[in-house]
Amino acid sequence: MNPEEVQEAENDLLVPTYKRPSPVFVHGEGVFLFDSTGKKYLDFASGIAVTALGHSDSEWISAVVDQAQKLTHVSNLFHTIPHVELAQRLVASSFADRVFFSNSGTEANEAAFKFARKWGRMKHGAEKTDIIAFTNGFHGRTYGALSLTHKSKYREPFLPLVAGVTFVPFNDLDAVHRAVTSRTCAVIVEPIQGEGGVHPASTTFLQGLRSLCNEQEVLLILDEIQCGLGRTGYLWAHEAYGITPDIMTLAKPLAGGLPIGATLVTEGVSNLIEVGDHGCTFGAGPLVCRAAQVVFDRVSQPSFLEAVRSNAESLIQALQSLPTHHIGEVRSAGLLVGIEFDVPVQPLLQSAMERGLIVISAGENVLRICPPLIISPVQLANGVEILRECLPGLETQ
Ligand SMILES: Cc1ncc(COP(=O)(O)O)c(C=O)c1O
Repeated sequence: MNPEEVQEAENDLLVPTYKRPSPVFVHGEGVFLFDSTGKKYLDFASGIAVTALGHSDSEWISAVVDQAQKLTHVSNLFHTIPHVELAQRLVASSFADRVFFSNSGTEANEAAFKFARKWGRMKHGAEKTDIIAFTNGFHGRTYGALSLTHKSKYREPFLPLVAGVTFVPFNDLDAVHRAVTSRTCAVIVEPIQGEGGVHPASTTFLQGLRSLCNEQEVLLILDEIQCGLGRTGYLWAHEAYGITPDIMTLAKPLAGGLPIGATLVTEGVSNLIEVGDHGCTFGAGPLVCRAAQVVFDRVSQPSFLEAVRSNAESLIQALQSLPTHHIGEVRSAGLLVGIEFDVPVQPLLQSAMERGLIVISAGENVLRICPPLIISPVQLANGVEILRECLPGLETQ
């Protein structure tokens, strides 16, 4: 199929939930993608913060091939080994005592929502079921997760959503104090809001949330689906804030491009969950959990995390050399960067793509950079130079 045929077939066959640019990607290698015409692109998006090890990592491929030849799926009704080995790693490296595996970020948050409600009911009574979430927060698209997601464009066509969710301004601790009631069972927050425009939480905010949750007997759920697993230069984004949650959700990079979600919990949450409370046919499958071990073992290396932090610094320095016309704030945490423009960034994405650089947005006016975590300083600098070439195009908008 040539690119036009692919686009026509997509237009005819797929439910139109996405608008895609014209290249048809057929192959990836490291930080580069190649389209069906052979054109090479520097990948500053990593499939929305997913391919942390880049494309076609040889160790990841060997593990996937080896596991596929042994066992891919038996369902959660039976014992297998790779999910245990992955859970051992996640528990040993975090606050958590136990893990529930699923297939996506949305599902990880659905599980967090259900576990929090069950904890609230069982520990404090049937009234304690409400959740506080934040403006600009994004937690997914199914009913529970969508109910925690702030953007009205995503919510309104599908009302009514799950009841009992209150939105509070992000980074406003006083507002959370005012919003908490005896009905509140959990607060859910992204330490660095990704989809909402790359907004890091302030230290006083996250630390204050932790204290407030302790005082009010409310669970703190951290959604680290986009910002966790090395993206910020720390294994867990919350490490930089000196706090730990009661529940943490992971997904995107965990299996290096295969679908996975993980809900990490303390024993105090887990011991109220019983057989049959939640489930998942594909979650915790041997193939995906073997792939995730490779990713985890690499991104959790201190030297890997140190490289992310120092490469992030060089990226920010290079971005600061860009002409400031149209550019407002540059917000970042490690290799998750948002550049706020005073105009829509879509034309910039388009011209970068034409010049062989893949970047994405986070809202209409924010350009988001979230490359594979293995990217080198030279590759980062090359990408920034392509952006520099694209900027004059904004003048003609
Ligand atoms: C912070 C956060 N939570 C949840 C999700 C939903 O994850 P998924 O698309 O894997 O369902 C996303 C996806 O962008 C996200 O960034």
